[in-house]
Amino acid sequence: MEILELAGKIHDECRQGEAFNPLGKDVQFFKKRFYIESYGCAMNFADSEVVASILNAEGFGATRNPEEADLVLINTCSIREKAELTVRKRLTEFRSLKKKKPGMLIGILGCMAERLKARLLEEEKLVDMVVGPDAYRSLPALVVEAETGQKAVNVLLSRDETYGDIAPVRLDSNGVCAFVSITRGCNNMCSFCVVPFTRGRERSRDAHSIVAEVVQLFETGYREITLLGQNVDSYYWIDEELNETITFAKLLEKVALVSPLLRVRFSTSHPKDITDEVLFTIARYENICNYIHLPVQSGSNRILQLMNRTYTREWYIAKVKRIREILPFCGLSTDMITGFCTETEEDHQASYALMDYCKYDLAYMYFYSERPGTLAEKRYEDDIPEEVKKRRLQEMIALHRIHSLESMQRDVNKKFKVLIEANSKKSEAHWQGRTDHNKVVIFSKEAYPLKKGDYVMVQIHSCTAGTLMGEIIINN
Ligand code: SAM
Ligand code: SF4
Ligand code: F3S
Repeated sequence: MEILELAGKIHDECRQGEAFNPLGKDVQFFKKRFYIESYGCAMNFADSEVVASILNAEGFGATRNPEEADLVLINTCSIREKAELTVRKRLTEFRSLKKKKPGMLIGILGCMAERLKARLLEEEKLVDMVVGPDAYRSLPALVVEAETGQKAVNVLLSRDETYGDIAPVRLDSNGVCAFVSITRGCNNMCSFCVVPFTRGRERSRDAHSIVAEVVQLFETGYREITLLGQNVDSYYWIDEELNETITFAKLLEKVALVSPLLRVRFSTSHPKDITDEVLFTIARYENICNYIHLPVQSGSNRILQLMNRTYTREWYIAKVKRIREILPFCGLSTDMITGFCTETEEDHQASYALMDYCKYDLAYMYFYSERPGTLAEKRYEDDIPEEVKKRRLQEMIALHRIHSLESMQRDVNKKFKVLIEANSKKSEAHWQGRTDHNKVVIFSKEAYPLKKGDYVMVQIHSCTAGTLMGEIIINN
């Protein structure tokens, strides 16, 4: 999830300028065209694929070029102020496009739609439609409403919507890796976070529909799936027919059993909820990847309490030790926030020391951005000056750079099973893939008749802070 949150800052440039038809249907089938741009976490990208499926069924084909679209959609994120500013800028660009093409409709989807609701239509007049994350089934009806010149809004949050029965249409996919949503919403009330307000209550998707989607993905050539939820460890679903309770560990196992050739990843784990049962399940199945994203947010107990994270620094460290005991080769990543309300230099040093202790392979670090309506906004003063927040962030990033380079260097001279995902971005003569512990590997294609989705053994000979370089040793 977190990986795309970064990627999401860059709108989908690759979609511009070229028509595409993910359903493989005859172009004549589609009466109209939609263009969708996604921001935010992996769940938002996965939602855009649900939206594409709903629209395809109504005769809307996708286009990579907003200029030829009848319907322009922007699936938005509210997590930090900067994310919303990026979307606003983009909406202004779409407004100018609409002036040249008056029939075109502009819709805002996702978390910002949910947070700002009709304000975007009425006060700011930026869009024609506002559709919250639980209202995508009503999108076709809202389009009809907007076409008659009415302002169309549906931001109702649901307690049970999971879109479990909708087969997502994969957008801009490499045909190897796919996201599969397993929960929606979040019941944790981290005081800094807007997600519980934009995504509503947590609900778990029917396990049968998850497994069916994974089987279908595998049969169409996909070789890696990432199970998505804001807190995957709290997945909980009761199979009434079999009278069986499905926990996240059980779900992981069911998905791993689809095929030993399918890699399984998941994100995000909450330190308070990840269980030994999950860790032992990862250890038992070769195809469940040894990689855990375990956001810590702060290393100071006082700040963790203000953040309402419900664990302490000691609890977190004990979890990390347990992960390393049960899964000695597990990659570990985190999220860290600097400059949360009242954070002192001492608190910051506690976060710094925790980062130094954990030596993460990957870390996503942010300075605190106050979000309207959150518990922190209501209860505490956003009292750390921006330059202090940013200086602390820079210190954290500098420390993490050392750790990530060391983590890469530890893998030099080792060999890894790599799943081939695509051509290297820099050279057609090289493949790009990832190891089980989520490191990107670049290696020469040489004379081997390999293709995307194949596994191959690679001997690592060198690295940078972000990439391993190697050569093929055995073709599996
Ligand atoms: N559910 C996940 C968790 O519990 O960590 C991810 C939540 S959020 C989509 C991704 C990350 O954004 C968080 O882990 C946090 O580090 C960061 N974040 C959330 N709210 C923030 C805020 N108000 N300011 C800065 N960073 C924030
Ligand atoms: Fe936000 Fe906390 Fe829920 Fe993650 S667990 S989505 S940080 S409220
Ligand atoms: Fe995701 Fe951003 Fe919403 S991180 S859940 S799209 S606020």
